[in-house]
Amino acid sequence: MTGTDTDLAKQILDLLSTPPSGREALFALANKIRRENMGDSVFLRGIVEFSNVCSNRCLYCGIRAPNVKVNRYRMADDEILAVARRMSDWKHSTIVLQSGEADSPAENRRIGELVRRIKAETPLAVTLSVGNRSRDVYAFWRECGMDRYLLRFETSDPKLFAELHPDCSLKDRLQCLEDLRAVGAQVGSGFLIGAPGETLETLANNILLCRTLDLDMIGVGPFIPHPDTPLAGRPNAYKDDTDMFFVAVSVLRIFNPQAHIPATTAFDAVFSERDGRDLVLRRGANVFMPNDTPQRYRGDYLLYPDKPCVDEDTGDCSQCVLGRLDLLGRPVGEGPGHTVKKRS
Ligand code: 5AD
Ligand code: FES
Repeated sequence: MTGTDTDLAKQILDLLSTPPSGREALFALANKIRRENMGDSVFLRGIVEFSNVCSNRCLYCGIRAPNVKVNRYRMADDEILAVARRMSDWKHSTIVLQSGEADSPAENRRIGELVRRIKAETPLAVTLSVGNRSRDVYAFWRECGMDRYLLRFETSDPKLFAELHPDCSLKDRLQCLEDLRAVGAQVGSGFLIGAPGETLETLANNILLCRTLDLDMIGVGPFIPHPDTPLAGRPNAYKDDTDMFFVAVSVLRIFNPQAHIPATTAFDAVFSERDGRDLVLRRGANVFMPNDTPQRYRGDYLLYPDKPCVDEDTGDCSQCVLGRLDLLGRPVGEGPGHTVKKRS
């Protein structure tokens, strides 16, 4: 695909506007492009939500600092390592360490040491997803062995971004992504689908921004209003046409053929009766992120309501996903599942 950004935005918008009768063909095209570029394997990246302590006030997020109903926790390093050591048995190639945003020198040092230990004691690739930091901190984590980083830009509309994030600007967020690339990490970002106030043009620009940033990984998922946030009762922009969530992923794949795209958990929350994540794997995605957080913490890491697997324990989702992939006829990815992009 070639052309100026304006041409591309128009092409993306046209595809996003595919009428319901044409959507199966769109899904099939995305699935074909996924197969041709990424193969049939599905990489498993086990996510450990190791702390819900957060200093930010993102309007959509259930663990935002002002939500006093949340019981705050921090997993101990040894507890995290115990999970990491079991991951290879479950065919995971990557551990994703995610937490709320808690930027302090002590916490940043601790995260670095944890990464070092995981790299020394397991064959796992390590992905961090802990928010905005300075380039120096990212460089330190990279020296400790961090392979990848996930930090969604959430929306490409600077005004909407500012409304949703009292503690951060879109410019700062994009600077973080640039810094991560500069220190040599594989970079993942992405956006909320249907945040209140977004238009179809915003969605098209979100997809275009993923392409412009040349991302290694792209995670997107539907916005789900959380009752204990300022956006409680603000419906998803596509609430009357929820198949648009899948249309968004398919168009994302078509315009980002070589990115790793996970079937994100929020799809199971919205389409519990239709196995949302399995559908996403058939419509462009090639990565699954089983939840490996110990059961006792899961109820305290509800970024949005109806999150699936809250009653399951470490290891359960990993078993479940093997069955799900079997039914889809998709093998588990072997090896670390690093980016397939070649950059000089
Ligand atoms: N609905 C959907 N996704 C959410 N996230 C946070 N809160 C919500 C919500 N209410 C997503 C954000 C964040 C990721 C970790 O979880 O996109 O980047
Ligand atoms: Fe968690 Fe199925 S993915 S139980």
